[in-house]
Amino acid sequence: MDSSKYRKVFSSLPQLETERLILKKIEMANANDMFAYASLSEVTKYLLWSPHLNIEETRGYIEYLQREYRRGNYADWGLNLKSTGVFIGTIGFADIDTRNNRGEIGYVLNPAYQGQGYMTEALKAVLKVAFAYLGLRRVQARIMVGNIPSERLAERVGFKYEGTLRDHLFVKGAYRTIRIFSLLADDYFSNN
Ligand SMILES: CC(C)(COP(=O)(O)OP(=O)(O)OC[C@H]1O[C@@H](n2cnc3c(N)ncnc32)[C@H](O)[C@@H]1OP(=O)(O)O)[C@@H](O)C(=O)NCCC(=O)NCCS
Repeated sequence: MDSSKYRKVFSSLPQLETERLILKKIEMANANDMFAYASLSEVTKYLLWSPHLNIEETRGYIEYLQREYRRGNYADWGLNLKSTGVFIGTIGFADIDTRNNRGEIGYVLNPAYQGQGYMTEALKAVLKVAFAYLGLRRVQARIMVGNIPSERLAERVGFKYEGTLRDHLFVKGAYRTIRIFSLLADDYFSNN
């Protein structure tokens, strides 16, 4: 990948617009809305992190994100409802492997806003950045066994199941089996 293009995209983190959402940099003003879902164990069940115990933890995470924006490293977009301005979740690259032109996607949505297609909308916008602007060859999602909503979301936008990595990650005191899904640039451009 052309790494200067990558830095350019992430140092400004372009604002993206979908039918119902604005995707933009996460700000300290989003801390309360983020804490509302990041503190729930049902949300973090299949994630690498544990529920935030207090708002300070959420603020600390937002400070970390802001350092990453300044450095031009990949960092999440915040999902904001156009209708109310409420911050309802995040989406972004959990990793980008520039040598192999590969990105890994991650997303989290407040349960109060699940089941309405918001993350499908956001993921489509981020995939456009991944393939049309960054020129990635492959975007993958590593999903812990049992996370059916995440699998359904990935498949809804065209990801294909590739296989299972048994006891792949040691997370929160237990080995986790991962199901891996991917979308390739050729398939993306054939359908978009
Ligand atoms: C993964 C996660 C983001 C999926 O959330 P979601 O609400 O299912 O996803 P969407 O916002 O795209 O909504 C899709 C659902 O809304 C329904 N829907 C309603 N209107 C829709 C629309 N206009 N477009 C698409 N779907 C719509 C879909 O049918 C689907 O429901 P179904 O899966 O029961 O069929 C959510 O479960 C989550 O945040 N989980 C916790 C964090 C996590 O595990 N992240 C993934 C780590 S790999």
